[in-house]
Amino acid sequence: MTITETIPVERIATSRISEIDFKNLEFGKYISDHMVVAEYRDKKWHAPVIKPYGEMAMTPAILALHYGQAVFEGMKAFRTVDGNITIFRIYKHHQRLNRSLERMCMPAIREDMFVQSLHALVELDRAWVPDDEGSALYIRPVVFASESRLGVKISDQYKFVVMTSPVGPYFNKPIKVKVEETYVRAAEGGTGYAKCAGNYGGAFYPTQLARQQGYDQVLWTDAKEHNYIDESGAMNVMFVLNGKLVTPRLTTALLDGVTRDSILTLANETGMPAEERRVSLDDLIAGFEQGTLTEAFGAGTAAVVAPIATINIHGKDYHLPPVTDASFQMRIKKKLYNIRHGIEPDKHNWNYTIVVK
Ligand code: COI
Repeated sequence: MTITETIPVERIATSRISEIDFKNLEFGKYISDHMVVAEYRDKKWHAPVIKPYGEMAMTPAILALHYGQAVFEGMKAFRTVDGNITIFRIYKHHQRLNRSLERMCMPAIREDMFVQSLHALVELDRAWVPDDEGSALYIRPVVFASESRLGVKISDQYKFVVMTSPVGPYFNKPIKVKVEETYVRAAEGGTGYAKCAGNYGGAFYPTQLARQQGYDQVLWTDAKEHNYIDESGAMNVMFVLNGKLVTPRLTTALLDGVTRDSILTLANETGMPAEERRVSLDDLIAGFEQGTLTEAFGAGTAAVVAPIATINIHGKDYHLPPVTDASFQMRIKKKLYNIRHGIEPDKHNWNYTIVVK
């Protein structure tokens, strides 16, 4: 019995795949044919089902809409050179989902339910996994409070939904970021380390202001002093400073990024010393002035490795040298690509393989 057969499937009558322009995959624009849906009620998760992607009946009183119990994950599936499909670091994403759920007082999801749901969905919609360089099938699990009630309370009912979306590169050129010194994404002790919906909604306004000034993203700083780098919008941030890979150490205000973790592991193995530490604005300014800050980039599932061309600090633009194939970030991006696509050995067992028959 294949995994697809362990989860009941209601197939779509006619696939929408022929409507998709696979050469122009705007991030998240297209959702694949099917979705997984599971319900939590009577204090337990009920078995997931797969059905055609589409609308779901809900009332406007569901607690997620009012009090924000909603968390999600983001993963990617890739085609390998031997014709199979891999999901990158599925178990680490599952662990992070459960940490986010715990922080938001939501029920944990068992590893087998999570893995089987994703496996079955990707196997069923395998034709949607793109194979152009830089593209992937983005997998978006989301859990939200679905009990209808206006009283402020922890929901007794939830839905777990998994959707997938063929995606191309998140950014198509090196980006400009602005160090945020007024607004705050997260304070220590808050929900910054959880992948909860509110963290993203709260970032929209400062990001919109930065965009109006010509920047692509903000670079968040710590909530107390606005002096230490936390992360950037939708990704962690990494620097090559004094010949070392340097990235802000994790606190409860930062997302424990899976791409961040993978790059740290690979850096050490490829002879690039890596440091997780506090990174102050003065460290960055000194690095620019002395020419020792040679690279800056975002790291995330959606963004993969996103070169940063300009950082605005205290209102002044500082520019990074152009990125070349010899840059650390390009070499590590290539290594990640090779592992995910089965070109280089997967020494850490990061790939969850779906054998395509
Ligand atoms: C991801 O990298 O998976 C993200 O969650 C970033 C963004 C698309 C929300």
